[in-house]
Amino acid sequence: EFIKDVTGIKVLENRLREKLNLDYVVVVPGDSDELDWVKHEMGKACVTFLQSKLKPNNTVAITGGTTMAAVAEKMTPLNDAEHCMFVPARGGLGERVENQANTICAEMAKKAKGDYRLLYVPDPLSESSYQTIIEEPSIKEILNMIRNADIVIHGVGDAVTMAERRKTSKGEMEKIQENHAVGEAFGYYFNQQGEIVHKVRTVGLQLEDLKYAKNIIAVAGGHTKAQAIESYFKPGQSNVLITDEGAAQELLRDS
Ligand code: BG6
Repeated sequence: EFIKDVTGIKVLENRLREKLNLDYVVVVPGDSDELDWVKHEMGKACVTFLQSKLKPNNTVAITGGTTMAAVAEKMTPLNDAEHCMFVPARGGLGERVENQANTICAEMAKKAKGDYRLLYVPDPLSESSYQTIIEEPSIKEILNMIRNADIVIHGVGDAVTMAERRKTSKGEMEKIQENHAVGEAFGYYFNQQGEIVHKVRTVGLQLEDLKYAKNIIAVAGGHTKAQAIESYFKPGQSNVLITDEGAAQELLRDS
């Protein structure tokens, strides 16, 4: 049974903020695993938060995924923030076109009436191709913009779900499972303790680049993502979480 009153939601938000040690948490009513529109409510909440933080000439880096696609769908013109630039945080990471960061980035920029740049690199990449590609001037330029983004918005996924969706090789899949990965974000896989157990090699934002952005917003919900969200936040990379009641209840179950 889901909470219908605002006070109940506020209590969840405060408890989550303390548990995960975050600056800001939004919990939308419902469970996006069960109802699709809940994902769109998270999208709306994310846009509202973004509007309150964005300043003119800011750069926003975004990842792919169905949750980020919902954020793009709900994007509105950024009235107070002129000339904003949208960039994909990393490459396609094996996603279907509609769930790729490039696609979502272009869509978001269009709705926000902002600008965008895309990242055209195949991924995953071999070590030697990676070293060559990052030296390309056009790639270097966009990588710089990504690394210097003022705001990063990203999804968090269940490790095995993401590995399957990306058609990960058998060897890598075994590595992910043997190391008990539970969460995934930015192409990094985390175990329950929040340790990185596997990483997809591709250009774009690396986890260590996250210290530069002022606001890093994770948008992820659904009760099945609770463990994934917890594992990602163990090392504490992002400072904002937009989630739903399904995930929030599950995350707070034993505390
Ligand atoms: C992917 C991102 O595109 O979307 C992942 O690369 C993220 O890092 C995933 O975990 C989340 O997908 P969804 O569909 O659950 O929002």
